[in-house]
Amino acid sequence: MRLLLAFALLFASASALPQAATQAPDVIFVPTPQEVVDKMLELAKVGKADVLYDLGSGDGRIAVTAAKRFGIRAYGIDIDPQRIAEANDNARRNGVSHLVQFRREDLFKANFREATVVTLYLLPDLNVKLRPRLLAELAPGTRIVSHQFDMGSWQPERKLELNGRTIYLWTVPPRKGS
Ligand SMILES: C[S@@+](CC[C@H](N)C(=O)[O-])C[C@H]1O[C@@H](n2cnc3c(N)ncnc32)[C@H](O)[C@@H]1O
Repeated sequence: MRLLLAFALLFASASALPQAATQAPDVIFVPTPQEVVDKMLELAKVGKADVLYDLGSGDGRIAVTAAKRFGIRAYGIDIDPQRIAEANDNARRNGVSHLVQFRREDLFKANFREATVVTLYLLPDLNVKLRPRLLAELAPGTRIVSHQFDMGSWQPERKLELNGRTIYLWTVPPRKGS
């Protein structure tokens, strides 16, 4: 009986493992309105040679819009498996599954070095936490666009308002000594 109980406990804790390993999002999903998505891509001057990464990609609308409008490769990183499923569905419905890829990852650990455009809709402290990696790992000239939130002491080169939303643009500067 005791042995049976031990097996039952072992099985229960093992089956609880995947759930325990699921990391909670640092910010909940709130979608960027489509007109703001369009303006973000316009502000970043997205073109045919770009590779876009949306860090915290939600239902995938920014990556899907970029792929659909410009025919470029676009990636979305999100920690929430439900968002990844929605984003894949979004890509399928819009016929761009061959151009976009959604990865279930923590954006603070993900590799986004190949991006030439990065989009964000996170929170002020998350932008500031991400800033050192953006500056160190992205190629100079990479554009970063953020919906609603700034980067602390890193001043944006453009800032515009649209229907009560604010959009910020930065360009990764040349590295010192290069
Ligand atoms: C405010 S929503 C923005 C969604 C989309 N970028 C947009 O603008 O419509 C933020 C997203 O970030 C995701 N997220 C939060 N913390 C994360 C983390 N550490 N790593 C990856 N994604 C995260 C959430 O699951 C959510 O989908």
